[in-house]
Amino acid sequence: MQAVTYDLEARHPGWPTRLGPLRVARGTVELRPIRLLDAGDWSRIRLRDRVHLEKWEPTSPGPWSDRNGFWAWPPQWMALRSLARKGQCLPFTITVDGELAGQITIGNVIRASLRSAWVGYWVSSTMVGGGVATAAVALVVDHVLGPGGLHRVEATVRPENAASVRVLTKAGFRQEGLFRRYLDVAGDWRDHLCFAITAEETGEGLVNRLIAAGGAERP
Ligand SMILES: CC(C)(COP(=O)(O)OP(=O)(O)OC[C@H]1O[C@@H](n2cnc3c(N)ncnc32)[C@H](O)[C@@H]1OP(=O)(O)O)[C@@H](O)C(=O)NCCC(=O)NCCS
Repeated sequence: MQAVTYDLEARHPGWPTRLGPLRVARGTVELRPIRLLDAGDWSRIRLRDRVHLEKWEPTSPGPWSDRNGFWAWPPQWMALRSLARKGQCLPFTITVDGELAGQITIGNVIRASLRSAWVGYWVSSTMVGGGVATAAVALVVDHVLGPGGLHRVEATVRPENAASVRVLTKAGFRQEGLFRRYLDVAGDWRDHLCFAITAEETGEGLVNRLIAAGGAERP
């Protein structure tokens, strides 16, 4: 009997990879696959940034200190790595000038005739306001709608999250509608705006568009 082999690259085109660099006001932004060794920096930032992050993130059981302590990272890293190996997500660490500055994840990758996914992200409070998230979104969307073989990327955001709405608008996403009581965030069901972008809408690419608008440059 012939052995069955699986071509992981074909099952998950575009993964693993590094994206960037792209220079923005805050520094040089790069995306790389999450690492087990991110635990220390990840935990230090997230323990400090509870006020900055918690109100926008899905509700989870247990105290913030447990969910974001050093030992919370290995199981999260393992779960994300497992999903990535199955072709269901692309989990990136965002770095600025080589330092961990946040995360951006393409999740719920569906192929066949849908070829769609969502994007989610956060940036350290010490790195915000300098174009980091917008650069990360532009890099990752160009990648998944190009070499990643997807057709559509969605993002849902609370209407109150003006900074994130601005990130999506600057990056080129379109608002499609409002999902009522959509997601359990910070302890209650919250309305979310739905934003999306399809491959036909990216034109010369989101990164090129961002550069042309003066929001970034290639180092
Ligand atoms: C949302 C978030 C990712 C933005 O990161 P960032 O690196 O600061 O994003 P950028 O600098 O690329 O863009 C932010 C934009 O929002 C604007 N902004 C920031 N706070 C704002 C506010 N309260 N009201 C209106 N605009 C605001 C900034 O001025 C900037 O726009 P500009 O370039 O036109 O000036 C970051 O604040 C964060 O991690 N927040 C907590 C987690 C979160 O909300 N994740 C997303 C869930 S959908």
